[in-house]
Amino acid sequence: MATPVDTTTVGILGTGRMAVRLAGQLVRNGHKVLLGSRTPQRAAAIAAKFEAGAVTGCSYEQALEAPYVLPAIFVRDGLFELLARHADTLRGKTVLDILNPFNEDYSGFVLPWDTSAGEQLARLLPATRVVGIFKNVFWETFGRPDFAEGWSDVYVTGDDAGAKQAVIALFERSPFRFIDAGGTQDARFVERMTLFAAQLRARLGYSPRIGWRLLGRPPVAGERDPYDHFTAVD
Ligand SMILES: NC(=O)c1ccc[n+]([C@@H]2O[C@H](COP(=O)([O-])OP(=O)(O)OC[C@H]3O[C@@H](n4cnc5c(N)ncnc54)[C@H](OP(=O)(O)O)[C@@H]3O)[C@@H](O)[C@H]2O)c1
Repeated sequence: MATPVDTTTVGILGTGRMAVRLAGQLVRNGHKVLLGSRTPQRAAAIAAKFEAGAVTGCSYEQALEAPYVLPAIFVRDGLFELLARHADTLRGKTVLDILNPFNEDYSGFVLPWDTSAGEQLARLLPATRVVGIFKNVFWETFGRPDFAEGWSDVYVTGDDAGAKQAVIALFERSPFRFIDAGGTQDARFVERMTLFAAQLRARLGYSPRIGWRLLGRPPVAGERDPYDHFTAVD
């Protein structure tokens, strides 16, 4: 029997590809979703396809009332301006940052190399906890995230360790492998990994099924590198 989870309410902004799939992940984990849209009727129609009472369609303003807020809108579509208008409402809350700052044709980012959407968000909302998550999971892979090598990784970034743990806990019944990938500034690496993956999947013909998974393991006691033999000449 599945262990019960504490039910949390997450407000999602937007009703696009990621919004719907992450709503599905949250519902699967026993949480409630306020699905916010510029067109609440659209959000209500999507909500009606989930199990009764799990997802409620509403406006952005209503979704922003939740203790956890997940903006699923592109930076290029004015997300920062929208959040700046609601900075007071977001005080003391946790924002789940899934942003990759892609330009219109996905050939690059609208932000320079020496920053990230995660850092810009944290600067914009200094009284809000910002946790980077799911940046590397392409929407097409949520339905079948199992690769031959295993489930893909989700790299989690942020400067508040407790907030990172709380956000990972929201998805404890999800099949992904969640890895603490460092502080807010490390979102630079994670976001650029998404851009690199997008380029690779086109080049390799893996589109849309591509994901990141780190290979590695702790060292085994007494394990020797066979190449030591060549350099041990004393
Ligand atoms: N696509 C991916 O595979 C992927 C992976 C990881 C992270 N992300 C990130 O997730 C976020 C959402 O990506 P997505 O692919 O889910 O986007 P999407 O399918 O294009 O949906 C974006 C949503 O944003 C809302 N929106 C608000 N203002 C808008 C405007 N001016 N123009 C268009 N839409 C507007 C719309 O919802 P309403 O009409 O309901 O308001 C729309 O459904 C992005 O920041 C992206 O970087 C995406």
